Amino acid sequence: MDTFLQHLFSSQEEELYILDCLSYLMIFMALVTFLALLVENVPYGRYSDRKFGFPVSARVAWFIQELPALVVPLALVLWTSASKTVHLPNQLLLTMYFCHYIQRSLIYPFLIRGGKPTPFASFALAFVFCIYNGYLQVRYLSHYAEFPSDWVTHPCFISGTCLWLFGWIINIHSDHILRNLRAPGETGYKIPRGGMFLYISGANFLGEILEWAGFALAGHSIHSVAFAFFTCIILSSRAVAHHKWYLTKFEDYPKSRKALIPFVF
Ligand SMILES: NC(=O)c1ccc[n+]([C@@H]2O[C@H](COP(=O)([O-])OP(=O)(O)OC[C@H]3O[C@@H](n4cnc5c(N)ncnc54)[C@H](OP(=O)(O)O)[C@@H]3O)[C@@H](O)[C@H]2O)c1
Repeated sequence: MDTFLQHLFSSQEEELYILDCLSYLMIFMALVTFLALLVENVPYGRYSDRKFGFPVSARVAWFIQELPALVVPLALVLWTSASKTVHLPNQLLLTMYFCHYIQRSLIYPFLIRGGKPTPFASFALAFVFCIYNGYLQVRYLSHYAEFPSDWVTHPCFISGTCLWLFGWIINIHSDHILRNLRAPGETGYKIPRGGMFLYISGANFLGEILEWAGFALAGHSIHSVAFAFFTCIILSSRAVAHHKWYLTKFEDYPKSRKALIPFVF
């Protein structure tokens, strides 16, 4: 794989420059997505719409679209020199990334209960994003990122790691609550209760936003910031949309519950 990358880029400086450009492009795409989301919800799940392509079964879509986020990084770590993986901060940040995507691509899809099919366009975009972001995050961390020798004791790294872990736990717990709202074979919607759903409608989304915000704080790079920003745009919009949807769908929806930030928003 090193040979393949050497064919693509004339030097390491050039590849690093491309990684920076990909990060700024991701931030730009997040801003464009933000504008698009003002007129249309991301079309999957309860907002699935046939005009965005033929339906792909939820399990198949989630498994295949998320798989590149695991396979591309694994190939980069195993089949390139990955010279920075000997350093502890790089190892810990890569561990955070892999923990998330092992759960998301190998476990989450097979736990889904009665999920709505995903339109092909949403599936294809998610698939491309996972390749893009998998390469961006893991190539940078495994081959380029340099941290001070005492970075793991720096307050940014410690607080970022704690935030990542806190967010991951909220995300997994909230997805677990949602899943258990349905008995096997059911496909309808109920009011989620318990955990962070006590306070907000987008509990699973807040968890994931915190996760990648923590990762960006600990990773201190434009590459991780771009991913955290993109995630925040997509998932905060989805949390707001779900919140409005619940309020129109359920008359007895808890009135004190907010969309994304407990007691605030
Ligand atoms: N990093 C990123 O940019 C990113 C982007 C998207 C998603 N994600 C993550 O991927 C995970 C899934 O996202 P999502 O957008 O599919 O979440 P979601 O809309 O909350 O749906 C999650 C699952 O729970 C079901 N569900 C949701 N609300 C329900 C209710 N009230 N009653 C019964 N079942 C309910 C859904 O079924 P239906 O399919 O039938 O609605 C779906 O199977 C989340 O953890 C999210 O953070 C991350």
